Amino acid sequence: MVFEDRSIIERKEYNKELYTKIFNITKKPKKILDFGCGLNPLYFPYKDIYYIATDINKNILKKVKKHFKKSNIKGEVFYLDIKDFNEIKKLNKVDVVFIFKVLDLLKKDKLTTLGIIKNLKTKFVVVSFPTKTVYGKRMNYPKRKWFDNILNKLKYKYEIIRFFNEIFYIIRK
Ligand SMILES: C[S@@+](CC[C@H](N)C(=O)[O-])C[C@H]1O[C@@H](n2cnc3c(N)ncnc32)[C@H](O)[C@@H]1O
Repeated sequence: MVFEDRSIIERKEYNKELYTKIFNITKKPKKILDFGCGLNPLYFPYKDIYYIATDINKNILKKVKKHFKKSNIKGEVFYLDIKDFNEIKKLNKVDVVFIFKVLDLLKKDKLTTLGIIKNLKTKFVVVSFPTKTVYGKRMNYPKRKWFDNILNKLKYKYEIIRFFNEIFYIIRK
């Protein structure tokens, strides 16, 4: 059984606007990679973009695979642990990488986060963080200072898009 978490249900409300804003910056990609995809691929509003969906939850992967088949979406679905640098290095180049609401799970492990962003073969990485607590309250400091510091260290430029429950960093490598 795979449950949708509250924020993905909330994200459905602004999904179109979100991707329009992202792709205004990155240009519409041909190929994307979604790390820790969860059920996000089920709500992606484009069918003409090659979608590589990865996660460590096998039930999620099964569900996404079924959705791609049913909806005729071109792509790949496979197990990938975001902490596995060797596997990350083997990935082919893509246009945009999504890492939505995954990096907080690494508990501010700066070296791992830096390694992931640095090793990805892509021009753009879009990273998101929730800006509501698990109890649905707004966070006092929604921006992640530790993450800003990593991007500054790498000298990567970024833009920020904010929605009521989530903050998105559009990072240019
Ligand atoms: C909060 S959910 C976010 C799902 C999706 N990215 C979204 O924003 O809708 C976190 C996801 O990260 C996955 N995950 C957790 N640890 C991971 C890891 N080490 N490598 C890859 N995915 C991981 C979980 O299985 C889950 O699907």
